[in-house]
This record gives sequence, structure tokens and C-alpha cells, in this order.
Amino acid sequence: MTISKGVFPVAGLGTRFLPATKAQPKEMLPIVDKPTIQYVVEEAMQSGINDFLFVTGKDKRALEDYFDHSGELERHLLEKGKTDLLALVRNISNMCQMHYVRQKQPLGLGHAVWCARQHVGNEYFAVLLGDDIVVSPKPCLKQMIEVYEQVKTPVLALRQVSRADVSSYGVIEGESLGNGLWRITDLVEKPDADEAPSDLAVIGRYILPPDIFPILEDLEPGVGGEIQLTDALKELLKTHTIVGYEFEGMRYDVGDPKGFLIATVEMALAREDIGEEFGKYLAELVRERDLQPDRSSK
Ligand code: G1P
Repeated sequence: MTISKGVFPVAGLGTRFLPATKAQPKEMLPIVDKPTIQYVVEEAMQSGINDFLFVTGKDKRALEDYFDHSGELERHLLEKGKTDLLALVRNISNMCQMHYVRQKQPLGLGHAVWCARQHVGNEYFAVLLGDDIVVSPKPCLKQMIEVYEQVKTPVLALRQVSRADVSSYGVIEGESLGNGLWRITDLVEKPDADEAPSDLAVIGRYILPPDIFPILEDLEPGVGGEIQLTDALKELLKTHTIVGYEFEGMRYDVGDPKGFLIATVEMALAREDIGEEFGKYLAELVRERDLQPDRSSK
């Protein structure tokens, strides 16, 4: 059986992005003109996911509204003859059937995944985190599903990060199987740089078995006092082989202002409509700054 269910934990408070996220979900912040969550939903759709479950929380209604019809707006666009915009808006609400479950307390990623147990039932499923956007010719999750179809075990997305950054991630210890594949032997959530077992970080794409749910149910809080998915995966290692996969593609951490800016600039440059003009503006800006290196202190 292949993977058709996708779980999107979107209950996070977005504290790395305050004050912008004080009254709106971080997943709705746009990269150029498209909310970050839509990039992730599109990746899932292009990977064969047709059942979407959002694990939401307080103040996340904008997300539900976004994927729903917008009667007033659609009527207005129709009356004004703005058919392109009307199609754009309608496509979003027709994208696919969305389901929602509430994570009633912010107890961590592991707890959010646990909230999906009834909807997922007894089958393998994908988890996609909205802070990670991957741009690649073949969608990241699709690459992972292809690995899953060969190995029939849980698959985690991996990326090499700098030692200084390992403390922001779940980090693996593993044996290389070649072709970017690893047999994972251990996992640690947010280790100190000098204690990390490697520099291979888990990125926000997971293919998981239903066996993760009873483990999450009994899990004690870990780092930061939260129920950590990484701790559940470490427990899962006792009964399952877990494969790590160094996916191909450019990955952006859009949950962080710097990563968000990098994604915005690079995606704007790649756009057919505005890319060229924006590129010229940037080049000009950099040239001016080079000519006046002390301009900020003037
Ligand atoms: C979460 C996971 C972490 C993983 C990361 C990927 O951390 O807990 O293991 O490496 O996502 O983005 P967070 O970014 O929510 O702190």
C-alpha cells in the first residue's frame, strides 16, 4: 500500500516570528504572494497525498478559511470580470478535502502527531512540517515515498547541517547504505554541538507507521518539556528499521526570519513575472552598497 494520508502539524505558536504571529498563524505568512502552508500542501499533492489532516490549535482559523470557499470574494471577482484571480482563488478551495483536528494544548510535535491517530487509523502516513519548504524537480515527499516503497519501513528526511546548527534539530546516528540512504541506529532531539552523534539533521518530512501512536501515548516529555517525536522514533527503533534519506533539493527553514528572507528572495528571483526586474534591483542595490560600504553609519 502506498502513502495517501498527510498530517500537517500547524498548532505551533510561531514564537520565532513574533510579533508577526501574534494574531495570525505563521503558516499564513506569504513567500512572495503564497502562504508558506500552500507550498507544503502542493508538495504533498504532487507526491500522491489525497487525504489531508491539519492538527490545528488556538488562533488558527485563518488556515481553515484559506482552504475553504470565499463566497463574497468570489462574487466580487466574478462581477468585476477578474477571471484569472477567480480561478486562482477557486483552485485553492477546490485543492482537496481537508480535515482538521484540534491539539488542545501545545505539548509538542509528538503530541500533535498523536492527535492524528483516529484519522490515520492503521496505515503508514506522512508528516509534513510547515517550517520546511523544499524546492526540487521531484517533490521531496515523492522521493521519500519511492524509498518507502522499496524498504517498507519508516523513512525520515535528512540533511547535513553545520555543527553550529545541530542543536536546532533532531540528529541521527546511522550507517550509510549508499545513495543518500542511512540505516538509523540512534536519534537525539536538539543535542549540544559537542554531543551530537553526527551532523545529519532530520528535516520536517516523515513517513511513519501507525505503531508510532501507542509509543507517543506513553511518552514522557523530553527536551523543552515537550512530547518529542524524535524520542518516539528512538523507541520505534526497538521494533522497526528506520531509514534516513538525504533528499535532493533546496530546503528553506521558513520558520526563522533569516531563512524566510532567503526563501523570499530566491523564490522571487525564480519567478517569471517579477524575477528579472527584481534581480536587476538587487544587483543595483548590492553595487551601491559596495560603493558606499559605510553608508549605514551615515
Ligand atoms: C522539529 C523536530 C526536530 C526536527 C525539526 C525539523 O523541531 O522536533 O527533530 O529536526 O522539526 O525542522 P522544531 O523545528 O519544531 O523545533
